[in-house]
Amino acid sequence: MQKETLPTIIQGGMGIGVSSVELARTISIHGYLGVVSGTAVATTLVRRLQVTKGRKKIVEAIKAFPFKTIANKVLETYKPTVKNLDRRLKFKPLEMPTLNQSEMLTELIVLANFVEVYLAKKGHQGIIGINLLEKIQLPTLASIYGAMLADVDYLLMGAGIPKYIPSVLNAFSKNQIASMPIKINGDHDAYMHTFDPKAFAKGEQLPKLRKPKFLAIIASTTLALHLYKNEETRPDGFIVEAPIAGGHNAPPRGKLTTNDYGEPIYGLKDEVDLERLSQLGLPFWLAGGYGHFEAYQHALSKGAVGIQVGTAFAFSKESGMKKSLKERIIESLKMGVAKVKTDLLASPTGFPFKVVELSGTTGEEKTYKARKRICDIGYLREPYRKENGDIGYRCPSEPKLLILKRVVN
Ligand SMILES: Cc1cc2nc3c(=O)[nH]c(=O)nc-3n(C[C@H](O)[C@H](O)[C@H](O)COP(=O)(O)O)c2cc1C
Repeated sequence: MQKETLPTIIQGGMGIGVSSVELARTISIHGYLGVVSGTAVATTLVRRLQVTKGRKKIVEAIKAFPFKTIANKVLETYKPTVKNLDRRLKFKPLEMPTLNQSEMLTELIVLANFVEVYLAKKGHQGIIGINLLEKIQLPTLASIYGAMLADVDYLLMGAGIPKYIPSVLNAFSKNQIASMPIKINGDHDAYMHTFDPKAFAKGEQLPKLRKPKFLAIIASTTLALHLYKNEETRPDGFIVEAPIAGGHNAPPRGKLTTNDYGEPIYGLKDEVDLERLSQLGLPFWLAGGYGHFEAYQHALSKGAVGIQVGTAFAFSKESGMKKSLKERIIESLKMGVAKVKTDLLASPTGFPFKVVELSGTTGEEKTYKARKRICDIGYLREPYRKENGDIGYRCPSEPKLLILKRVVN
């Protein structure tokens, strides 16, 4: 990758919908890398189609989808039922991703990722990336293909070891079958998942696709070296995320110790060796507390091409976060009373997660405990092999007793 052409600021991907089309588009128009999130966008797409307000632009994007039969089928299936978004609204349910999910769900995942990237890129020449989590494996291939159909410029992936991504991008850029391993019962290579563009197109013409650049989000030198050593797993660059970063964080290395607030304590072992990373010759960006000018300059002095920023953008006007929440958090920051915690238990992913302790939200223990645990979207479900050999799914957000039962069985 040529250094001169690289963005100096990356607006980090923020699921689900925080890094909205509007946010990514705005950043991109200003000459930086705007990133939309591909996490669970099939769910948000079908919900948006059921609400009249804001539907028009989504329909327009769906009409630009290269496979017309699929586009028409989705528009026929998801008609608007209400004028405005309402919390009490009952949406048409969407099946959860599985190893043998319906054709319709795969089509929706491809289409939803296409729509996000298409809308973010529309009407300007800037660059757009898509963010996916390695940990959420079942929708990955369909998501990448959908984003590539909309000519995505970058793919950014963390929360795991995304070693198969370069070969997936290679295959899809030639419209060839791509495959990736799915983890079952802790075995990372237990099942080979495939996606065949030709079969997906069902006879419609396959468009020419461009290979996006792949940036691996890492929090350890070991992972960077591991991905780098083999040409087939080597990314085009790294985003180095420090534990102070908003959203999920990598757990600390070694034995877990916590402070008085129950937050994980990070040490020297958790610092990425930037000198060693520089020697690899790949571009890298620093993330986690880099959202101001001095930090940007510091990143450059360490050999980085630039920075990736999340939190500051999450509170911008264009982000998809609810306006009243943004305002309340900014107000509490101004008053100096905002509390942010690195919570070990809050996220169903099992990763440490930054939580703002805001009254009336699940960031506050009382509200969190009063909320009924339910598995209704299912993107974090992981396959496991039952005693009889069948595949079951463990959902980290379902009632704890059910999870235990599935672990025991
Ligand atoms: C609300 C929020 C959601 C996030 N969601 C994701 C995500 O889905 N995937 C991801 O790779 N990073 C996610 N991040 C991390 C950001 O992309 C970025 O790396 C990080 O926020 C940088 O640190 P900063 O918050 O100190 O600027 C999220 C961050 C925030 C604040």
